[in-house]
Amino acid sequence: MTEREAGGFRLVQISDTHLSDRQSFFVENYARAIRSINRASPDLIVHTGDLTINGVARDADLSFAAAAHHLADARMLILPGNHDVGEEPGFAMMDQPVSEDRLSAFRSYFGADWWAEDVAGWRLIGLNAQVLGSGLPDEAAQLDWLWDQLDGAAGAPIGVFLHKPMFFAREIEAGVPGQLIVPSGTRARLLSLLLRTKVRFVASGHLHKYLDVRIGLTRFLWAPATAYRSGLRVGTGAPMLGYLDYRLFGDGMFTVRAVSPPGMEVHRLGALKGDQPFLKDAPPVPSPLADTIRGAERDRENSFRDRV
Ligand SMILES: [Fe+2]
Ligand SMILES: [Fe+2]
Repeated sequence: MTEREAGGFRLVQISDTHLSDRQSFFVENYARAIRSINRASPDLIVHTGDLTINGVARDADLSFAAAAHHLADARMLILPGNHDVGEEPGFAMMDQPVSEDRLSAFRSYFGADWWAEDVAGWRLIGLNAQVLGSGLPDEAAQLDWLWDQLDGAAGAPIGVFLHKPMFFAREIEAGVPGQLIVPSGTRARLLSLLLRTKVRFVASGHLHKYLDVRIGLTRFLWAPATAYRSGLRVGTGAPMLGYLDYRLFGDGMFTVRAVSPPGMEVHRLGALKGDQPFLKDAPPVPSPLADTIRGAERDRENSFRDRV
């Protein structure tokens, strides 16, 4: 590590943790990643979505993911993914379209589903990718708000986070379906807005692959998942497990590296899903660690009740 890298604002991006107390395949990998992150003691963690396996239909998945976030020492800012609030109606592969009710359920556990935060001379912006292309009132409201946030940064370096990437290969494609990347209806508009305002980086999750490429002045970063690696043999990016570790400097420079903590288990999705097409329908698998996390949460709630 250089002297410069030793300083700066320490930010970690995790993504696609896919937690559930019922189908608890990925809880151990999540705990391994969080232990590694806690050792690095970042100033802030950003989670770019797919917190759950089936938070869309199962409140218990949302509440379990919220409880599991107490394992992290640092504060965590959170964004929704398709597994948490649903998919854009035109691309609802799992027949779980995003809706106002589903967004409300998410907010009841994790707070705002899009946000901005100024840290160490930077403006960080988190977007809800799932409302893009949805036609919900939130879609237009978020774009108006984004314009204000970009405009109001007054020259500060900007980093943007959202669940879905803006492209699938190394260029902007017309033919890639919206379940993989930001839907084509809003992709060009959003991208031109981000590139025009010289956003320093756009960081996403969703594809369970690691990528770091530059277009113009903007770096596009894909965070690896903690749950499982992509099985996609098309497109770009490297399937891997882990998280991204950033250092942000007040002059707009930043460094980022992918970290893959030792001991993370490589799961085979086919084996987990059995004869079901989607992970959400996979047979339940218990986990002692999931029980411990749920128990700790109950204790936390009880002690809170005792105090009030
Ligand atoms: Fe995912
Ligand atoms: Fe996703």
